[in-house]
Amino acid sequence: MAPLRSLLLLSLTVFIFIFTLCRADPDPLQDFCVADLQSNITVNGFPCKPASNVVANDFFFSGLAVAGNTDNMFGSNVTQGNVQSFPGLNTLGLSMNRVDLGPGGVNQLHSHPRASEIGFVVQGEMLVGFISTTNVFYSKVVKAGESFIIPRGLIHFQYNTGKENGVAITAFNSQLPGVVLAPQTLFGSKPAIPIDVLTKTFQVDASVIQLLMSKFGQAT
Ligand code: GLV
Ligand code: MN
Repeated sequence: MAPLRSLLLLSLTVFIFIFTLCRADPDPLQDFCVADLQSNITVNGFPCKPASNVVANDFFFSGLAVAGNTDNMFGSNVTQGNVQSFPGLNTLGLSMNRVDLGPGGVNQLHSHPRASEIGFVVQGEMLVGFISTTNVFYSKVVKAGESFIIPRGLIHFQYNTGKENGVAITAFNSQLPGVVLAPQTLFGSKPAIPIDVLTKTFQVDASVIQLLMSKFGQAT
């Protein structure tokens, strides 16, 4: 009996440990803390609006009902439902996006430093892929009604493989997952990353880097 109890205790400890590691944002300390986005106070997250000013609309958001404009170089649009557009999310460790992909459109390679992502394809079909830290590429064409997950911090994308518009709703275990867009980060930062660093890193001539910078914001 004793070994069984120890095993149960060990399993419980391991479960709690794993569960703790899986959490992204810290737990809330009260029912809600609707973000006061105008406050000058700087905290980890946003200060709460006084409860007397909280209204029902703080907990509802219609932004994801509207299709994003995909008329751009990537043929895609991501509408973010994070704490900055949906203040009721503050301290709750949750957020959602709407991803619209025109035919052939791509939600470019990016990562979220503060959250894992789960997605549901509402319309169309899309190739969804991510790359692990051991450089294994995991991908699948995901169709309407199907879901996918992207582990926290890993580079990923969605690419419309169908003939119609693709729509996915994604959700995150953070009120503000953060987005690192690979091309803009490397070739469009301000100030720019020194060209010698980029030519050495990518093992190409400066002209290649300059071409990429001209596309993503930092022509030299
Ligand atoms: C999709 O990858 C998203 O970040 O919403
Ligand atoms: Mn993403």
